[in-house]
Amino acid sequence: MADSIALRCQNVCKWFGSAAVLLDVNVDVRAGEFLCIVGPSGCGKTTLLRMMDGLLAPDYGTVTLDDVPVTSPKPSISMVFQDFGLFPWKTVYNNVAFPLTLRHTPRAEVDSRVRSAIQLVGLAGSESKYPKQLSGGMRQRVGLARALAAKPEVMLMDEPFASVDAQVREMLQEELLRIWSDVKQTVVFITHSIDEAITLADRIVVMGQRPGRVVSTVDVEIERPRTVSSVRRHPSYAPLRDSIWSMLTSAAL
Ligand SMILES: Nc1ncnc2c1ncn2[C@@H]1O[C@H](COP(=O)(O)OP(=O)(O)OP(=O)(O)O)[C@@H](O)[C@H]1O
Ligand SMILES: [Mg+2]
Repeated sequence: MADSIALRCQNVCKWFGSAAVLLDVNVDVRAGEFLCIVGPSGCGKTTLLRMMDGLLAPDYGTVTLDDVPVTSPKPSISMVFQDFGLFPWKTVYNNVAFPLTLRHTPRAEVDSRVRSAIQLVGLAGSESKYPKQLSGGMRQRVGLARALAAKPEVMLMDEPFASVDAQVREMLQEELLRIWSDVKQTVVFITHSIDEAITLADRIVVMGQRPGRVVSTVDVEIERPRTVSSVRRHPSYAPLRDSIWSMLTSAAL
């Protein structure tokens, strides 16, 4: 069912001390969709993602995956972090394998999943390298491979491409478009970049701040397969960009 809801945040509120960080946030993530969240710095995007991962509990409201409350991290949900989150003392192979070995997955299955994830992100041949021997873009590919190898139902990505330069970022966006068209997992992807959100997403949730809230949810009606340049050339690209930009600026007032 194309429109069934995988992950649902209902009336989610979060306070840190006396400050309301998120107020009455409702986000439905459809099974198999690529959902981007954009919003100003400090509006609570990471906080919301941590609640989707079960790392943090809402003070009010609920987060459910397939109607089951998410109360702790679980194998069906994987997170890809901005700072890669790799272990410097482990090789590429062992970094990717780590979550599977934690779960006592049989060794042959670990090996086949790790090798195919490494292949998928274009790192075949680098299995025995250590993170310090890799560029930022390659490290982020390792982070992506690790999330993919776990074969989660939902992948949560918190500004995963923010630490790499503009050119590598576009290459990673294209790779993610290709990989996602293969795996068709449900993805929630946070970004500061409206361009990146339009390039990747089926729908974009626009957040405002003080308190953090959902301002609007926008459909990206640009056909797939997409590339960075085909999206930029699409007639709906510029109007969509302008409309999200004005939502963000008026939400910041
Ligand atoms: N553990 C915490 N204790 C207290 N305040 C916190 C904590 N975590 C986040 N905050 C505050 O909550 C607000 C939202 O933070 P959050 O990191 O979710 O924002 P964000 O939208 O991800 O920002 P950015 O775009 O800069 O990453 C900020 O004001 C932040 O200072
Ligand atoms: Mg953040």
